[in-house]
Amino acid sequence: MSVLFSPFELNGIKLRNRIAVPPMCQYSAVNGYTNDWHQTHYASIARGGAGLVIVEATAVSPEGRITPSCLGLWEDGQKEGLSIIASSIKKAGAVPGIQIAHAGRKACANRPWEGDDHIPSDAPEAWETIAPSAIPFGGGLNRTPRKMTLEDIERVKADFVAAARRAKESGFEWLELHFAHGYLAQSFFSDHSNQRVDHYGGSFENRARFILETLEAVRDIWPAKFALTARLGVIEYDGRDTETLEESIELARRMRVLGIDLLNVSVNFVIPDTHIPWGETAFLAPIAASVKREANIPVASSWGLDNPFVAQQVVESGQMDLVMIGRAMLANPHYPHLLAHALEIKHPDWTLPAPYAHWLERYR
Ligand code: FNR
Repeated sequence: MSVLFSPFELNGIKLRNRIAVPPMCQYSAVNGYTNDWHQTHYASIARGGAGLVIVEATAVSPEGRITPSCLGLWEDGQKEGLSIIASSIKKAGAVPGIQIAHAGRKACANRPWEGDDHIPSDAPEAWETIAPSAIPFGGGLNRTPRKMTLEDIERVKADFVAAARRAKESGFEWLELHFAHGYLAQSFFSDHSNQRVDHYGGSFENRARFILETLEAVRDIWPAKFALTARLGVIEYDGRDTETLEESIELARRMRVLGIDLLNVSVNFVIPDTHIPWGETAFLAPIAASVKREANIPVASSWGLDNPFVAQQVVESGQMDLVMIGRAMLANPHYPHLLAHALEIKHPDWTLPAPYAHWLERYR
């Protein structure tokens, strides 16, 4: 029996296996609206056999987009296209998830393949970026954001709640709050980017406040029968890792108490110059395991887990509950089919829908 292909249940939501597709921006939207690119992309990935498919970072407001081509859920009209996606994921047998996000000081950038740098503030398509403090990220993202007022903070929290409500109305059953990767929420938690002296900066309690208040507000409206999760960077690889990880685990405990069902463990990416051990296989697995153990919360994680035996091992050893596989799915949206053959599960072709599986099993 393959543990990777064993079902997983979270809060009444049943996944057919432990393989999840993490959110991956397609940078292909216009005014935050989906189009045929997104429809085809998500349907084919879901048909590939993963248990969970999480739609890319979807902005809670126009200012929260990473690029002008990011998806959004800030207005009702955006629900229609996303409903079609949620429904096609579900029809393919996967659980439909979505990540909602605000990019903070990393917003207003050119697409990765068009520079990945900030759009100059005087360009016609540019917008103002906001952050806990007026500190730029650096590198190509060097625009100085405006320091958020308390009214801004209230507005963004309300934007998260409104987007979560629209996600629910669009048929998603798994919500991931993007509190990672140096975007707005993560930048509140890190003192690299948060130098506020009010009750949103300084102490652990104060730096955690934006995340916990946003979570609490979303919890109020997100149905108890669906999964409420978050992605959190727990380590920066900046030489202060023990301290950052300890703080992140304490934050994870508090998030669990407030009603989060699972944490997607990731890297902070709050500063550009870090020492991430990219070359090490499954480098985040022991970190995810410590969060799972010490915060007593189910975890998922990603970054280079697509080798079948590695994916199997991280679940089997109990380091994580779900394995997120990203880029391998872009190369081959039916990647779980390859995993199933490599791990020699029974009837591996039936990870795919019947119109494919029948022929693959019978005549190969
Ligand atoms: C990403 N990643 C990402 N993460 C996230 O939290 N929200 C997002 O929208 C995106 N967008 C995105 C786009 C693309 C094209 C890539 C390749 C990655 C990170 C992603 O979820 C995942 O963590 C990484 O791809 C690492 O996993 P793999 O690719 O090593 O399996």
